[in-house]
Amino acid sequence: MSYNVERIRKEFPSLAVEDSGRVRTYLDNPAGTQVTQRVIDNTHNYFMNMNANSGGYFRTSLETSRLSDEARQATAELLNANSPREIVFGPNMTTLTLSLSRSLGKWFKAGDEIVLSRMDHDANVNPWLLLAEDLGLKVKWLPFNLDTYRFDLDKLTGLLNGPVKLVAATYASNALGTINDVTKIAAMAREAGALSFIDAVQYVPHGPTDVQAIGCDFLACSVYKFFGGHQGILWGKEALLEELPAYKVRPAKDATPYKFETGTPSYEGQAGTLGAIEYLAWVGEMYGNGFQADLPHFTGRQQNIHAGMMAIRSYEKKLSAHLIAGLTNIPGVKIHGVTDPAEFEWRVPTIAFTREGFTPQQIAKRLAEENIFVWDGDYYAVEVVNALGLSESGGMVRVGPVHYNTTAELDRLLNVLAEM
Ligand SMILES: Cc1ncc(COP(=O)(O)O)c(C=O)c1O
Repeated sequence: MSYNVERIRKEFPSLAVEDSGRVRTYLDNPAGTQVTQRVIDNTHNYFMNMNANSGGYFRTSLETSRLSDEARQATAELLNANSPREIVFGPNMTTLTLSLSRSLGKWFKAGDEIVLSRMDHDANVNPWLLLAEDLGLKVKWLPFNLDTYRFDLDKLTGLLNGPVKLVAATYASNALGTINDVTKIAAMAREAGALSFIDAVQYVPHGPTDVQAIGCDFLACSVYKFFGGHQGILWGKEALLEELPAYKVRPAKDATPYKFETGTPSYEGQAGTLGAIEYLAWVGEMYGNGFQADLPHFTGRQQNIHAGMMAIRSYEKKLSAHLIAGLTNIPGVKIHGVTDPAEFEWRVPTIAFTREGFTPQQIAKRLAEENIFVWDGDYYAVEVVNALGLSESGGMVRVGPVHYNTTAELDRLLNVLAEM
């Protein structure tokens, strides 16, 4: 069956909500997506029928433990982890990264080096800067090319010549929309004897993620960016997670991954996570046919999840093309990111722009008057906006469609911009 966005939209009840007869146009998705009916149902069911702590002998506790195991198993399939023991749940990506940085700090010493990038969200920058400050680590920076909006990875070679212990980089930029060659980055880090930490928060909603194919050591993402509720996910190679010390309280389990899950987990968040991943498998069942052949190494639900993500990626390339072509026709607009359709392998449909004669804030406000939701500013991509020299002028407008958005919605936005 060919991809049917109207059918997809039926799975997301909030897309039909109107405000005094006015439709909502959700283009704020990089800051958080709408949730599927399955997420709402699973969360409701959790609160109605489970809602206990795990580890007891009674009905609700047993069901909570079972649900948590199922959510972890589904997440392992989403990321192609070797085992559900490699999946750590936490409040959000930022908290998990801060926590992991503390643990990794036990392995680093003064004078060691870490490589950070100018393309990352601050959640994959400042946890490492704080660690560097605490331990006396040397920080090296991987810039991005201001013309291509991509990394020149030969620059990374030059940074890996010292005692580098960690390379932290983003899979997809939450500002520029650039997808990075994280497989190559992980390989380069490994050859230099360094660990790699990949921020996949902005990639996972847009394409299939395979930690084993990437070959990184750690990868983090966040479920509210891919159609579920607020729930962070950290994947780490099992051997590393086992060896790493965790900052935890004494009665909590010492086993991986539980030792990294401090305090009582959000089981309702895990119920929603399972719902979001089951939804992605449904997308694969409906529209993944043409992609199954590329996924002979997967079976069953896992094959559907990854085929679903490939169907999503294929549809979203059309959204990128439509939006970029439309923006290019508007006088004074400058897109900060990959614009050549031949290079769309290297971008998600998150598109940031500035426009002569208007501040990003003015544009976002004007669009909000029309019930069109976009973000302006730096969206915590502090290094990106600084590198572009836009921090004094209000950053950029960010338009972030996902697989449930339509070209008609993009036209609504483009028409308002054209009339301004
Ligand atoms: C690329 C990227 N990394 C990390 C984060 C932080 O994720 P969380 O809100 O789960 O801490 C975000 C949030 O916008 C992001 O876009």
